[in-house]
Amino acid sequence: MSYTLRSKHDRFADKEIHNRIYNESCLDTLARMSDDDVSLSITSPPYNMNLRIRNGKYCSRQIVKEEFSTKYEGFDDNLPIDEYNEFHSKVLSELIRVSGLVFYNVSIVTGSKRSVFKMIGDFHEYLKDIIVWDKGHGQPAMQEQVLNRRTELILVFANENAISRQFKTYGRFARGTLSDLWEIPRQRSTSSKNIAVFPEELVRQILVNFTVESDLVYDPFLGTGTTMRVCNDYGRECIGSEINPDLVEHIIDNWMIYTYPQRYPADA
Ligand SMILES: C[S@@+](CC[C@H](N)C(=O)[O-])C[C@H]1O[C@@H](n2cnc3c(N)ncnc32)[C@H](O)[C@@H]1O
Repeated sequence: MSYTLRSKHDRFADKEIHNRIYNESCLDTLARMSDDDVSLSITSPPYNMNLRIRNGKYCSRQIVKEEFSTKYEGFDDNLPIDEYNEFHSKVLSELIRVSGLVFYNVSIVTGSKRSVFKMIGDFHEYLKDIIVWDKGHGQPAMQEQVLNRRTELILVFANENAISRQFKTYGRFARGTLSDLWEIPRQRSTSSKNIAVFPEELVRQILVNFTVESDLVYDPFLGTGTTMRVCNDYGRECIGSEINPDLVEHIIDNWMIYTYPQRYPADA
C-alpha cells in the first residue's frame, strides 16, 4: 500500500511536489527502484536496542523480551546480531545503488555496536566521511562503568569517488563553513509509538548543505516522518518506507492538519 501526499505549503503548490509513503519493508521498495533514482537518502535505521549480552554473548530474542526498551510500539528491535548485520548490509548496498549520497545515522549501543563497526569495514570503499552528532548531554547509562552516550554518528556513503573527501556534485556549502561536528539538541517525538526520532534540525542541515530545491530524497525508515516533513518545508520531494501501519497513519493524520485536508491514495 502506498500514499501520495501533496505539498503542505502553498508556495510549492504550483511545483506539483508530491511525497509518497510506502507501507512495507524498505527492501521491497528498494527492489523496485532503479540505479541513481534519488539524489540523497537520509535515514536512521532501528538500533537493535533490545538485544542484550549475557555471559559475554549476544542473547537470542526470546531471552531479552522482559527487558524491552519502549522506543517503538509493535516492533521488537532485537534481531540476532547476524540477522541484523545481514539486513543492514542489504539495505545499505541498495541505498548506495539508488542514491548519490547516503546519510546513515547510527548509534553505538550494545545491540548495534558490532554491526556498526562491521558496516564501516565492509563498506569502507563507499564511506566518504563521518559526521558526529553531539546531542549536548549524554543520557545516563543503564549500568555501572558504562560511558554515557552523548553522540551519534552519521555515516556518509557515496556511490562515486568516495575516496575523495570533497562533495563535488552535492556540496552546497562554501569552503571553511561546515564542520564534521554538529551540535543539535534532541527533539521530542510527535508520536508515542516511536520515540527514537532524529531532530528536524539534523535533516535541515543535510538538506541545505547537500541538496537543492526539487531534489528527490528517500528515507527507508520513515518512523514519524521527520525527513518527509522537513523535505516538504524546504521544497524537496521525498519518498519513504515505513513497515508499521500505525506510524504511516500518524504521518498522514499530521499531514492532514495542513493545506490539503484529503488523503491521496496511490494513483499507480
Ligand atoms: C529509528 S526509527 C526512525 C525514526 C525517524 N528517523 C523519525 O524521525 O521519526 C526506525 C523505524 O524503522 C521502522 N522499520 C523497521 N524495520 C523496517 C523495514 N524493514 N522497512 C521499513 N521500516 C522499518 C520502524 O518501524 C521504525 O519506525
